[in-house]
Amino acid sequence: MKVFLPTLLLRKAVLQKVVEDKKMTYYNSIAQQYKKSKQLPFRLHIEAHTYFHLLGNLVGKSILDLACGEGFYTRQFKLQGAARVVGVEISEKMIELARQEQTRQPLEIEYILTDVLELGKIGDFDLVVASYLLNYASSRKQLLKMCQRIFANLKAGGRFVTINNNDSQPPSSYLSTQKYGFIKSIDSPLIEGTPIKYTISGIDQKFSFDNYYLGKTTYEWAFRSVGFKEVRWQKPIVSPQGVEEFGQEFWQDFFNCLPIVGIECLK
Ligand SMILES: C[S@@+](CC[C@H](N)C(=O)[O-])C[C@H]1O[C@@H](n2cnc3c(N)ncnc32)[C@H](O)[C@@H]1O
Repeated sequence: MKVFLPTLLLRKAVLQKVVEDKKMTYYNSIAQQYKKSKQLPFRLHIEAHTYFHLLGNLVGKSILDLACGEGFYTRQFKLQGAARVVGVEISEKMIELARQEQTRQPLEIEYILTDVLELGKIGDFDLVVASYLLNYASSRKQLLKMCQRIFANLKAGGRFVTINNNDSQPPSSYLSTQKYGFIKSIDSPLIEGTPIKYTISGIDQKFSFDNYYLGKTTYEWAFRSVGFKEVRWQKPIVSPQGVEEFGQEFWQDFFNCLPIVGIECLK
C-alpha cells in the first residue's frame, strides 16, 4: 500500500504534538508531591542557596519567573523586596497551587498560564529567572526558542539566572545522590534529547519526571546565538545553616557529582 509523503508527515506532526502535550501537562499529576519536595534539605540548603547567591539583591527589581511551578521561589522574590513579579507556568495544577497560596498570603504576584515557547514580549524585566525550565527542551530548536523568549523579555543590561540539571554529571554517579532524596537514571546513552529520569524518594510518596540531555556546548551555543554577552556557570554551594545542621561531610557526595548547576547570562 502506498502512503503519500504529506500524509506521513502529518501523522508524524500529530504524534509529536500528542507527545509534547503529555510532557507539558505531566506536572498536573505530580504537583502536590513536587511542592512537598521543595522542603528536602538539598533544595533548601544547596538549590535555593546557590540560586539566591546568583540572584543577589532583589529590592526594587522586576522579575519574570518562567516555569514558576507552584510559586515556591516566585513568592520568595516578592518577600525579598522585588517590585514586580510575574510567574509563567504551563501546568494548570501548578498554577492552581500558586494561586491558592496567593489567597492565603496575598503578594500581588501576576500568574500567567501558558507555554514559555508561546510567550510574547510582556516587558523589559531586570531579571528573567527559570529554575529547571531549560532542561525541558528536548532539542536544540526548542532550547533556542526558550532562550529567545528569555532574551526578548529582558532589558538591556538585564540578567537571566537559572538552576538547571547539570548535563555534565557522569551517569556513573547518578545513584550517589540517594541519601539526599533523589536519583537520576537513563535507558539509553546520553545524546541530544535523551530523557534523564529524576526519581524523588525523600518524601512520603515517591515520584518521577523526565528532563532532557542537551549538553553544555549546546547550551552555550543557544545563549550566544540569541545575543547574551556573558555566560557564567556556577557550581552548587551549601548554606552555612546546611553545614551547621548536617555537617560538611554529609554534603560531600553532592559536591563530588554536582547533579545541578547554576547559570547566569548577561544581556
Ligand atoms: C521542576 S519544576 C520547577 C518549578 C519551579 N521553577 C521550582 O523551581 O520550584 C519544572 C516546571 O516547569 C514547567 N514547565 C516545563 N516546560 C514548560 C514550558 N514550556 N512552559 C512553561 N512551563 C513549563 C513544569 O510544568 C514544571 O512546573
